[in-house]
Amino acid sequence: MRDMMSAGMRGVSVVTDGGSARPDGGSDQTGGMSAGMRDGKAPGGENGGPLLTARELSVEFSLYRKGLSQTRLTAVRSLSLDARRGEILAVIGSSGAGKSLLAGAILGILPANALVKGELLYNGEVLTPASQRQYRGTEIVLIPQSVDYLDPLMRAGKQVAGARGDKKGQREAFKRYGLDPRAERMFPFQLSGGMARRMLIAAAVITKPQLIVADEPTAGLDGELALETLRHFRQLADGGAAILLITHDIDLALAAADRIAVFYAGTVVEIAPAADFRQGKAALRHPYSKALIDALPGNAFTPITGTQPPPDHLPPGCLFADRCAGRRPACDGEIAPRALRGGEVKCLYAT
Ligand SMILES: Nc1ncnc2c1ncn2[C@@H]1O[C@H](COP(=O)(O)OP(=O)(O)OP(=O)(O)O)[C@@H](O)[C@H]1O
Ligand code: SF4
Ligand SMILES: [Mg+2]
Repeated sequence: MRDMMSAGMRGVSVVTDGGSARPDGGSDQTGGMSAGMRDGKAPGGENGGPLLTARELSVEFSLYRKGLSQTRLTAVRSLSLDARRGEILAVIGSSGAGKSLLAGAILGILPANALVKGELLYNGEVLTPASQRQYRGTEIVLIPQSVDYLDPLMRAGKQVAGARGDKKGQREAFKRYGLDPRAERMFPFQLSGGMARRMLIAAAVITKPQLIVADEPTAGLDGELALETLRHFRQLADGGAAILLITHDIDLALAAADRIAVFYAGTVVEIAPAADFRQGKAALRHPYSKALIDALPGNAFTPITGTQPPPDHLPPGCLFADRCAGRRPACDGEIAPRALRGGEVKCLYAT
């Protein structure tokens, strides 16, 4: 059984020892990919049903502060979403919004001091540490944000071929992702950043997984390879897989996704069809989603004032309240997600 993506890759131990991966940037790599990317498929694809469901998920960390006093920090809170078979669900949001923690919670690879509460269902079954071990690297795969996940002591070909030694699949994957056959014999330190990233993708998709959690998969790839990766995701989704595409790149999400979930300060503030995001801010629901779209260079290019609150300074009630022009007294109370115009929003006054 492969552990993370291939038997050779450092999965659990790297996350535990090294903490969560940090961003490796993100530029507009869409380069005209939007036309034809989705082949006119309806949001959610034809396959439809939820493959992964997160319900009221939270991730807490116990940390030791000065004087060895223990404190608890909630980095993800009341997070609910579902990823459906046949669809690409993009997850967007600024740095520190909890995107990689969601990925870690799904795969069961968060550090030992992380406490996950709430529910994660896969195919209708509650995910447990045992079932996560069973599915990880086969049915559920991660394309990690950091290339540090590669095993530094194992040759590239072997890492991609995995425990099953799928040499044929490995060669096909190398070809697809433009990796020179000579790279098979190389160790990760001999690969460029872009090659290492392509290896991570190749190793993840070779098992024909059902759920792909792709954490900034195209960061650092040139336009054509980013496009090829997204085309491949679309093929896998058309075959019934669900893709969770975590990205900083809103243009990429707009071009490739069926639906988009907007993360803010560890929770989901809006989930809506990508078509609504493409239409512009008037079609969106949450003030933060509208502001994100407004901040794009092609739109008003207006930056959002203020900053996202860190996990140890979260306001009571609405997490966006400090930056929201529409704030009212009731916004300081509990805000539950609600269905609105074919999407979902966490805002009392969204219309
Ligand atoms: N091991 C940890 N211990 C304590 N806090 C953590 C740990 N890992 C992540 N966090 C905190 O949880 C929050 C969410 O982190 P996460 O890595 O999920 O963000 P992200 O949305 O993936 O950001 P980025 O876009 O920069 O990758 C951040 O405030 C981060 O500092
Ligand atoms: S709940 Fe209130 S403060 Fe929060 S986004 Fe909506 S209007 Fe703004
Ligand atoms: Mg991240």
